Amino acid sequence: MNAINLNITFEQYADISELTLADKTLCECAEKALRTSYSPYSKFRVGTAIRLASGEIILGSNQENLAYPSGLCAERVALFSIGSTYPDAVIESMAITAQTDNFEILKPVTSCGGCLQVMVEFERKQNAPIEVIFYCLNGEVLKVPSVKSLIPFAFVEDRLER
Ligand code: THU
Repeated sequence: MNAINLNITFEQYADISELTLADKTLCECAEKALRTSYSPYSKFRVGTAIRLASGEIILGSNQENLAYPSGLCAERVALFSIGSTYPDAVIESMAITAQTDNFEILKPVTSCGGCLQVMVEFERKQNAPIEVIFYCLNGEVLKVPSVKSLIPFAFVEDRLER
């Protein structure tokens, strides 16, 4: 038997004023993306902004549906939009934020497992890390250097790949 310990490293900031200008801008874009959230059922708005190596920033927001499982998280909306519009784009960084009128969000909201699995696929496809920034509108920011560290046991089966 081997007992294995995995560590993850991330940066914690008091608020977005501590970030580089590029990262602060990305967080502000994620905040703008909240406006397009379609979330009449959860009333929980999620916005994401993704910076490509070209410098272009792509936005996404959660899109819900009366048939609840047919809705999609903000992260996947933005990533699939990039996959279908700019299939060869390299993603540098993505910022995620959330907002609701029902309670105060006091900590950065982190991505669900389904979104992490999709993020890992993009990371593998481009063979370069994607930084992830979780931004709480009330202050705290977490910055992770690569998606892989957030989902070390992501589903991978090399023999399913070309
Ligand atoms: N949601 C996201 O957009 N991203 C996540 O990573 C987790 C949750 C959305 C889905 C749903 O519209 C709302 O947040 C409440 O779960």
